[in-house]
This record gives sequence, C-alpha cells and structure tokens, in this order.
Amino acid sequence: MEDRAALLSTFQASFFAMTRLSPLHWERLRGELEKDKSPELIAAILKKLEQMCLEPLDELYEGLAGVLSDQKSEDCYKTYLLPGGGAVTLTESVALVSQGTTGLVTWEAGLHLAEWAGEHLEAFSGRVVLELGCGVGLTGLVVCRGCSPSRYVFSDFHPSVLRRLRANLELNGLGEGPAGGADGGGVVRVEELDWESVSEERLREIGADTVIASDVVYDPDLLPGLVRLLSLVLSCSSPEAPQVFICSPIRNPDTYNSFKRQLEAAGVGHEVIRGAGRQVLSYHRASAIEMMQLTLHTQ
Ligand SMILES: C[S@@+](CC[C@H](N)C(=O)[O-])C[C@H]1O[C@@H](n2cnc3c(N)ncnc32)[C@H](O)[C@@H]1O
Repeated sequence: MEDRAALLSTFQASFFAMTRLSPLHWERLRGELEKDKSPELIAAILKKLEQMCLEPLDELYEGLAGVLSDQKSEDCYKTYLLPGGGAVTLTESVALVSQGTTGLVTWEAGLHLAEWAGEHLEAFSGRVVLELGCGVGLTGLVVCRGCSPSRYVFSDFHPSVLRRLRANLELNGLGEGPAGGADGGGVVRVEELDWESVSEERLREIGADTVIASDVVYDPDLLPGLVRLLSLVLSCSSPEAPQVFICSPIRNPDTYNSFKRQLEAAGVGHEVIRGAGRQVLSYHRASAIEMMQLTLHTQ
C-alpha cells in the first residue's frame, strides 16, 4: 500500500514538472495494474493530479493538448513540487536553445544544485548568495524558499534570460525588494552581470558570502571570462573570501578538464565534493554531475 502511495506521488511530481514520459515508472505501474485489474489505480493517479488543480481535470488536459499541438508556442510552464511542501513554477522555453541562449530552460545541474543546497543550509542560511549564470531561476527560487539567505542575487547577462527570470520571480511571489515572510526567505535582487566585464568594485558591492553556479562550463570560448571572474570573486572580497560552489554535468570531458586547468593556471584550487545525496525534485537525470568547491591557492 505504501509502495502504491509512493508510485502515485511520483506520477504527480513528474506530471507537474513535465518530465519526459520515458523515465516514469511504467514497469511498476504495469505491475500494480496486473495485481489489481480494477480501474482504481488509474482513477487514483487522475485524482492526485486533480487535487493540485483549481480547474476540472478535463480542462487541464484540453489545455495541455493545446500546448502540445501548438507548434508556434515556444514556452511552457513547469511546476516543481518541493520536498517540504509547496512548489516552484517557472515559465521556460520548450527548446533547449532558443533566442540564441541556453538560459531559457532549467538544466539538470541547476536542479541538482538546488537539492545540494537543501542538504547544506549552513552555506546559505543568513548569508548573501550570488548566483552566476542563473538562467530562469529554479535554483535560486528553491534556495530562497528553503535555505533562508539574508540576500539572494540572481545574475545573468542575456536580456531575454533576465526578462524571463524577473517574470518567474514575480510568478513565485518573490519580486525584487524585501521578500520577507515565511515563504520569501530574504531580499532578492537581479543583476545584469557579464563574466567578461564585471568589475572588482561591483563584486565588492554585492559582497557575497557564498557564490554558486550550475551548468556554466559548456562552451570553451566562455571559460577564460568565467575563470577570470571566479578568481576575482575569491580575491576581492573581504574580510573573508566567499565559499564558491560550481555544479557541472560532465558532457564533454575535454571542456571540463580545460576548465580545471585554467583554474589552476589562475591560482584557483578546486576540490571535488560530494553532490546531493538524494534526488528530491522531479527530473530525468541523464548525465554525471560533479560538484566542486573553489579556493584561492595561498602564495
Ligand atoms: C546552460 S545555462 C545554465 C542555466 C542555469 N544555471 C541552470 O543550470 O539551469 C548557462 C547560463 O549561463 C549564462 N551565461 C553564459 N555566458 C555568460 C556570461 N558571459 N556572463 C553571464 N552569464 C552568462 C547564460 O545566459 C545561461 O543562463
């Protein structure tokens, strides 16, 4: 019975996160249906979905069908159910790359980093957090909901990404300015921050205690700018250097190893650390993901 309840919850979470169909637990569902041929299980799954909706389920399905059949539509809504209750909803692009950027979708590493944050509250709670290349905002929204930062600075450089990010913050009741309240957690800011050109002065003004980034190591041409920024972040803050955590999928080992070599050459040490122990958000994990912490080499 407990097994069945877990199966229902998985379907519910996957449905709202628009997870692809292939990783769903079809085998387990088939096993359950073979044990009990009444339509009750299917009805229970539909009911679970219904519980989350204000509209009748038929309308939900009609809306979904409309979205799927509308080839012109580039956007969708994804809702991630949070382990402690509540949810984060984002508008994202359907395509992985659109409007010339990879920043309009949430990537696996962003979800993994959010899960890792939930297991490492000490790195976020009461601290100023700067996120680099934050994309549409999933990681930061989950951190703001669950990790109580004193201030959370979302940053990216692409105009469409920043526009979408602001819309997603509004959608989740976390517009810029004091958010407060049981849900909000802290003060949220959005910064246009380009790794290539950000100044030391700007980083000092932000005054981050913790700096995080996910899926930012993917284009060899971006690495020099990113490494320059990371080295600046570690050296210009006072009195203490911030803690810096980078979460990366290992898609191309050559690019990833080149990043590590460029860090070393810039005097930045990296230590591979344990990633999130438990997957609590609903997504299909396809790549190996590595978490690393960066520190400045002492002379
Ligand atoms: C693959 S996406 C990752 C988005 C998000 N962190 C996630 O994990 O879902 C890479 C992000 O880095 C941003 N980015 C790329 N080059 C950048 C630069 N020079 N300065 C700031 N952000 C940059 C992109 O706009 C994009 O949002």
